Amino acid sequence: KLPAPFQVPLPIPPVKKPVRSDAKADYYRVVQRKASREILPGLTTEVMGYDGLFPGPTFDVRSGRTTVVEQVNELDVSTVVHLHGGHTPAPSDGWPLDLVMPANGGHTERHVMSGGDMTMGRRTYTYPNTQRAATLWYHDHTMDYTAPQVYRGLFGLHLIRDDEEDNLPLPKDDREIPLVIADRAFDADGSFLYPAAKDGPGVEPAYMEGVIADVTLVNGAPWPVHEVDAVRYRFRILNASNARRYELAFSNGPAKFVQIGSDGGLLDLPVEHKTVVIAPAERFDVIVDFSQYRPGDEVTLVNKLDNNSNVMRFKVAHKAVDESNIPAKLSSYAVTPRPAGVVRREWRFRRGGGHSGWTINGKAFDPAVMQAQVKLDQYEIWTFVTDVHHPVHVHLAPFQVLSRGGKTKVAEFDHGWKDTVDIRPAEVVEVLVKFTAHKGKYLIHCHNLEHEDMAMMAAFETI
Ligand code: C2O
Ligand code: CU
Repeated sequence: KLPAPFQVPLPIPPVKKPVRSDAKADYYRVVQRKASREILPGLTTEVMGYDGLFPGPTFDVRSGRTTVVEQVNELDVSTVVHLHGGHTPAPSDGWPLDLVMPANGGHTERHVMSGGDMTMGRRTYTYPNTQRAATLWYHDHTMDYTAPQVYRGLFGLHLIRDDEEDNLPLPKDDREIPLVIADRAFDADGSFLYPAAKDGPGVEPAYMEGVIADVTLVNGAPWPVHEVDAVRYRFRILNASNARRYELAFSNGPAKFVQIGSDGGLLDLPVEHKTVVIAPAERFDVIVDFSQYRPGDEVTLVNKLDNNSNVMRFKVAHKAVDESNIPAKLSSYAVTPRPAGVVRREWRFRRGGGHSGWTINGKAFDPAVMQAQVKLDQYEIWTFVTDVHHPVHVHLAPFQVLSRGGKTKVAEFDHGWKDTVDIRPAEVVEVLVKFTAHKGKYLIHCHNLEHEDMAMMAAFETI
């Protein structure tokens, strides 16, 4: 029996504090551990969390200033941490076999033949944050087991700020709110239900397409409620679901979302949407204006792709002064015209045969195989081709969408810098990408986490 919606206040994940700082960097320590948390009112759920939290703490850092994170694994399974959207050197990017083995030992290890850079109990990840302000997130990336481990709680936000963004009159402080949306299923006793395959990685055959669950959590609370003033708010929306897509709309509220940013930070110009379609791992940074409401009014955020099911509710509490604004011009990033004569590559995302489940270019993920060698500092045009729906993610560099379904006019949700693009069934999307600074092994994969675990991932090498 599920709880009534709109009872639990929207939690805001705490901001992580460094243990020390010096001229170059801030140093943090995170402990990955199990914890009992009250997610559904009156029940406890055992989570696997960064610092035992669900979601993990939020990193709030400056562009160009290095973040060093010591991750201690006190769980009973191996883990890997990836900073999604990060311009990260390969040793800190979370290669799926760079396993951090449990500090406590005494478990059955699942990857005896690792071949990665395995460490015992802890690993230090270094993030240079050499990129513009953006809403990033960090999450587990363990070979074959990313989906169940993210599902149980190994995910959190990593916000990068810079002067360009700080100088805009956007809503801030308690009017700048992260909304991390994730669906989860629970047993009657409050424990997570995940349909893991009986033997080995992956899921029960019925969940091949991805795990869709019946409770919508926002920042770890079921269908929460949040009090707002009748002013503009900035919402950084992340879809942290394993496989579910959302079309977010206000059932009885503001007719529009003004998008100011995407995965890779601010857009050049704001874009208005009636609804926001968001696939797993995508981020939409939006402004919502509640000024047309009066104290006492209630505004419900729903998912139009699931019969207008509830996501959360806002209660308009007070009239208030609003000093924020949405500038006509947000940022001046270079929109690159389609360059001629560049390297082109095609990545085909398709159901596999036999045990591999899902494939890229006909191959199940093999960490020993580099599907491409990509030169740094050169534009390339990558073409993604799908059979069914796949949210495609590229590590290390953001990209701009050049065309979708043959149309070169930027589609509604493709504005700005993206690192994940929602590709619909039997669709072709071209993107322009350029990798810089870091040589090494990186990944391209589907971010439907069940597809990812069932081998829809490919390695490439930057040279
Ligand atoms: Cu968010 Cu390789 O993943
Ligand atoms: Cu997929």
